[in-house]
Amino acid sequence: MDNQQLTALLQQMTLEEKTAQLLQLTAHLHEGAGSEGQVTGPMEEMGITEQMVAASGSVLGLSGAKDIIQVQKSYMEHSRLGIPLMFMADVVHGFKTIFPIPLAMGCSWDLQLAEKSAAIAAKESAVSGIHVTFAPMVDLVRDPRWGRVMETTGEDPYLNSMFARAFVRGYQGKDELKENTDRMAACVKHFAAYGAPEGGREYNTVDMSERQLREYYLPAYKAALDEGCEMVMSSFNTVDGIPATGNEQLMRGILRGEWGFDGVLISDWASIREMIAHGAAADDREAAYRAMRAGVDIEMMTPCYVRHLPELVQSGQLAETLIDEAVLRILQLKEKLGLFDNPLRGADPEREGEVLFCAEHRQASYDLAAKSCVLLKNEGVLPLKPHHKVALIGPFADSDDILGWWSCVGVKEDATKLSTALAERMQEGALLVAAGCSPHQMSAEQLSSALEAAQSADVIVLALGEDSAMSGEGASRTDIRLPEAQLALIKQLKTFGKPIATVLFNGRPLDLHGVLDEVDAVLEAWYPGSEGGAAVADILLGHVNPSGKLTMSFPQSVGQVPVYYNHFNTGRPLDPLKLEERYVSKYIDSANEPLLPFGFGLSYTTFAYSELALSSKEMSAAQPLFIRVNVTNTGLTAGVETVQLYVRDVTGEVVRPLRELKGFEQLELAPGESRVVTFQLTEEQLRYHHSDLRFTSDPGTFHLYVGGNSRDTLMSSFTLM
Ligand code: GLC
Repeated sequence: MDNQQLTALLQQMTLEEKTAQLLQLTAHLHEGAGSEGQVTGPMEEMGITEQMVAASGSVLGLSGAKDIIQVQKSYMEHSRLGIPLMFMADVVHGFKTIFPIPLAMGCSWDLQLAEKSAAIAAKESAVSGIHVTFAPMVDLVRDPRWGRVMETTGEDPYLNSMFARAFVRGYQGKDELKENTDRMAACVKHFAAYGAPEGGREYNTVDMSERQLREYYLPAYKAALDEGCEMVMSSFNTVDGIPATGNEQLMRGILRGEWGFDGVLISDWASIREMIAHGAAADDREAAYRAMRAGVDIEMMTPCYVRHLPELVQSGQLAETLIDEAVLRILQLKEKLGLFDNPLRGADPEREGEVLFCAEHRQASYDLAAKSCVLLKNEGVLPLKPHHKVALIGPFADSDDILGWWSCVGVKEDATKLSTALAERMQEGALLVAAGCSPHQMSAEQLSSALEAAQSADVIVLALGEDSAMSGEGASRTDIRLPEAQLALIKQLKTFGKPIATVLFNGRPLDLHGVLDEVDAVLEAWYPGSEGGAAVADILLGHVNPSGKLTMSFPQSVGQVPVYYNHFNTGRPLDPLKLEERYVSKYIDSANEPLLPFGFGLSYTTFAYSELALSSKEMSAAQPLFIRVNVTNTGLTAGVETVQLYVRDVTGEVVRPLRELKGFEQLELAPGESRVVTFQLTEEQLRYHHSDLRFTSDPGTFHLYVGGNSRDTLMSSFTLM
């Protein structure tokens, strides 16, 4: 149907049918749903009538071709105007085949693999009846206390933007949602700046200048929309004192006005009604009024719209045209998905069995897991020696809790455990597994078996971490160390004086004191997904050379948070040669630098950077700058290096970060091989928001840095004319 036909359909709808079209419910209220689907928020008494359900526009959390076909067929039988339901779900890092958590995927710096993971997730979701995913989540983060850092790709706006684009391309393809039922619509979230809650406390206040918002937090949402993302989800938090879900300036001003977004805007779970708790609405009626004024189209899981919009229109307080615009956007998305022609779209129970968790998808998950692990330390322990006897100890030695939060319909039982993978790859009798303890405690018996295994081994592999419920939504922590029982285990095992390699399974940067300084090697595996155990085993055994690079800084301690690489210099920067100086920006009990910086990651080989050269000492809008650097693999093993380009605008109208990522390139080098990497830098990339929000560059001096992380770099400088 074209817009004219959709408008004609809209005009046939009663006001009650229109407002019901704006309602999204979990499946439990729908006839024929075999299950209530995934419940991802508080369930409240809704006061929803059968009529409202019968005319509601979409369902969240249900999947499974058979169930969705059943619900859609039953719904269409009662639909007066034949408007089909849209089915949406949180497919964040895989559907049934689970990929590493997004924070891990970010550490791969591999946009192609990220896009591929989204395409696979779309294929598995669509055959199971899903039309829209609530992803990518692109909230910029600087505070590892917040549990949802696991769901994002980190602290840099440029890198987050590149990943946002890649995920949208993977989910949606290019203008093919109607023709290609292996794709699904994407919904970028959470608009806006949900990743900056005070204290890292879930759902807490977000407060920052509009300039800060625009400079760091908005770019990745905009990148997703520039890539064609069909939907946006509002965030729970306030933005400049107004809940995002009712924030007209943010939604109608920036999102729809400035950016021209005319797609569907959905609230987060109950975030319309939650304006009452925020203190920005007196009741459901006022919450409905403010959200509709802000341009929120779909209300997720609360009844403010269906119960109050008709009366708000009839009383003249709201123009019906606002409702019509919202409904039309929803009808347009349903048309884009081809649902009017085929309400069942790609749902296919037979094909589901062939597609879900197939070997090809598992291989892609393995590939991404192998590239997402980050080697944080290695003092001659890894890779493990083939003839060595290995004691595999700790709560994650034999654990399937490696999918992480938001793992959709992935099941832990399908995950390849580290113990299984190592046993398959090692000689008979070379692996001793002492497992069974939880991340929080170890019984005397478990400890005894661990010490026994350590006693008779040549090397200890300690598999430690957070249980997956310690990160994700609703899981902020004030103490970001490993649980006490694990720190104690490290100390006890150290008494054996044997090499210890630690593998971490966790959903946030941790305070690694008591870990990094105590053991000989640390591999950050995050939650590596369905094939995580196999990927980690191949890295430990040297079949894969780790190449991941951190996209979120690891702090010295939680007391240092927030700590991030693109920070300002302050007026009294600490001079590393004058650490005793009192009146400078520093701590008296900690270093200023993070324990591990953005972009950091080791390899089993080493890389040397040399011959940094610029095409000119000056550049301009008309004359971009070309930067060349020579990279050499100076070790004995082939490896992948992510070469990173940073700049510093030395003097700005507002203060400017000491480093800003402007480009990166991955290259695989054989031992001894050298390659010249060339970057192009344009004037456009040097623009920033001025105090009056103008987005322009300034002439002046820039420093330029190239290296394998944001700290250890070659430096040069140039002038922007
Ligand atoms: C949750 C999350 C959001 C998710 C939604 C639906 O509360 O904040 O990311 O998409 O509800 O599950």
